[in-house]
Amino acid sequence: MTSLIDDWSRRDVELRASLAYNSVSVPLAGMLASGQDDHINELFERVATTDSRVVAVGMCRSDGEPAYATKLMPSSIRCAEIARSDVESFSSVIVNGRRMLIGAFPIAVGTPQGHFIIVQDLTFAEHRGQEARNYLTLILGGIILASGALAAGFVLYLIRNWTQKFKQAVTSATRNGDAGAAPATFGLLDREVRQVLRQLEMSQSAIDRDQANWSKSTLRDIVTAELPGVEVLVVANREPYIHNRGAEGIEMQTPASGLVSAVEPVMRACGGTWIAHGSGTADRETVDARDRIAVPPDHPEYTLRRIWISEEEQDGYYYGLANEGLWPLCHIAFTRPVFRESDWRIYRAVNERFADAVVAEARTPSPIVLVQDYHFALLPRMIRERLPEATIVTFWHIPWPNSETFGIFPWKEEIIHGLLGSTIIGFHTQFHCNNFLETVDRFVECRIDREEESVTHRGHETFIRPYPISIDWPPAALARQRPIAECREAVRKRFGLPPDTKIAIGIERFDYTKGVLDRIRAVDTLLEAHPEWRGRFVLVQVAAPTRSKLSTYRGLQEEAIQLADEINARYAGVSPAPVRLIIRHHEPDEVFELFRAADVCIVSSLHDGMNLVAKEFIAARDDERGVLMLSHFAGASRELAEALIINPYDAHATGEALHSALTMSDAEQHERMRLMRAYVSSRNVYRWAGRMLLDASRLRKKQRIFEIAAGNPARAAR
Ligand code: F6P
Repeated sequence: MTSLIDDWSRRDVELRASLAYNSVSVPLAGMLASGQDDHINELFERVATTDSRVVAVGMCRSDGEPAYATKLMPSSIRCAEIARSDVESFSSVIVNGRRMLIGAFPIAVGTPQGHFIIVQDLTFAEHRGQEARNYLTLILGGIILASGALAAGFVLYLIRNWTQKFKQAVTSATRNGDAGAAPATFGLLDREVRQVLRQLEMSQSAIDRDQANWSKSTLRDIVTAELPGVEVLVVANREPYIHNRGAEGIEMQTPASGLVSAVEPVMRACGGTWIAHGSGTADRETVDARDRIAVPPDHPEYTLRRIWISEEEQDGYYYGLANEGLWPLCHIAFTRPVFRESDWRIYRAVNERFADAVVAEARTPSPIVLVQDYHFALLPRMIRERLPEATIVTFWHIPWPNSETFGIFPWKEEIIHGLLGSTIIGFHTQFHCNNFLETVDRFVECRIDREEESVTHRGHETFIRPYPISIDWPPAALARQRPIAECREAVRKRFGLPPDTKIAIGIERFDYTKGVLDRIRAVDTLLEAHPEWRGRFVLVQVAAPTRSKLSTYRGLQEEAIQLADEINARYAGVSPAPVRLIIRHHEPDEVFELFRAADVCIVSSLHDGMNLVAKEFIAARDDERGVLMLSHFAGASRELAEALIINPYDAHATGEALHSALTMSDAEQHERMRLMRAYVSSRNVYRWAGRMLLDASRLRKKQRIFEIAAGNPARAAR
């Protein structure tokens, strides 16, 4: 374009020069012939000033010498060089940095008399070229922008159209399962997208059908329909079956653990592998070469994989960091937590060991891993690093404190980072979820979506959800129970109680969070304020020794024994003695018999994630009688509003509540118990696990849709 414009401009200038010469050639010839020098000079000056582009006009004689020239004729122009041709000629020169065009026209009037010279400025041609280039660039830019915008608009239209179809189809599949509402085609991904939508649609109808009636078989059906072929792995410190060497050989024990009583029936329903610390003295003798045992031993339904932990590791990981650090920190029962660097190191190492075991047990790249409790806060991240496609659901069985309290934990960022490796983190109550979100917000850099209740940390999104844990319904131990009257008879006989004695029962692990001392003190206030109960009331307190290696736990036992003795001594003449303290582990059948024999069950936790004893008492009372006294500080109090809610820190009020419980009419007991039984029967442990697994399944499907949309149908198919 530049050379084209230059050529064009040059030709224009040449033409103007020719015109100028033509206009003067005749008078010039006459003036030359008559030697009118003045007139020639005048004529040349006129020509030079009529056009601003003409710089100078002159003449070269035929002998090559300059003859006439206007004032601005450049001195560098040599006639010998420019005026040689006998036809018109043009040449360009640079004068003082400016380009000039010199036209030379032979003047022939009879005999050649020389050349007419006209010098023109070419700078204007350069300006014109530059302007033309600018316009051209603008026009081309405009064309590119317009076609780009047109193309972008078209692509946007396509994407919007596709997204709308996709949304429509997902919404109809998830809300009402109406496949007919799905659009005709999804283009290249049509087959894969339709497959996912069909699954969503099928599962949705299955859930709607069974939602109100959760049972072992509902859970099984949902796992089969929603998560076909999925592999379920549980990681929990406590194993569901412990083999100990006893006087009569190997004995099997089921531990006193809310966690075990909740997760065990779920594993029976779903199958899979439970990875746990092998803590029994005969555990090694009962596993196969790969440290596995099929359980329950009499009719196996899943696999227990035992991990061996040395005494030193157990001290650092279980007793130290977990139970002297995190346990008191999260429970806020006014026992000071202890944090040791060495415990933290061991805790991390043991978590690594379990992460390796998860990888070793996993048969697929995307299992569902159910991580249990505060023993494994670092495990979710470790599993995520090893099995990036796994669905990791972590359940925190104990309370999560407010951020200020959690702030004293020396490795808080690491713990939070570890937990946020999970796909979902579950707590018993919304309150604990809120505390967790507040803690995360305060201590790590992340994005919190309050509407979705999710945390995005380093590009990974974790969902925070409340799943109130519960019990098997009806519990297996209930089927083996005798009628209520026989249970009462047996218990009265065992403790030597007269028939009119009212029995209150307390059953738990001997833990300072359970409020055992406060409960015993409340008995004292009851007998003080209501002497009529002396000799007509007994508290049977069953406490299973736990974590006895720790001085706080040993101290609690000693204190409880002393307190019970003191109170019994105070009412020395009274029979039966008001407090019976029985320190030993009870198997579920014995526990249920005690529940069925009791008039009142006291759950006086100073702080508790949920407390399943409360729910087990309700399950044991198929006669729809008995009164539950329940601490306001146990998660269960959020659900069991018909219990007598107590503040265990207030001994007087608790004693009064005990009096109300003992005097409650049969009709009121019946009404309260009936409502609580209806609640727990439907909100049982299958619902707890089912809701978690359904959420996990939805997130897996969502992930699959993303994989498909990202063009990875192979990953989506896993
Ligand atoms: O409450 C937390 C918890 O893990 C429970 O789930 C369980 O009942 C209890 O602690 C068991 O404690 P441990 O395994 O230390 O005996």
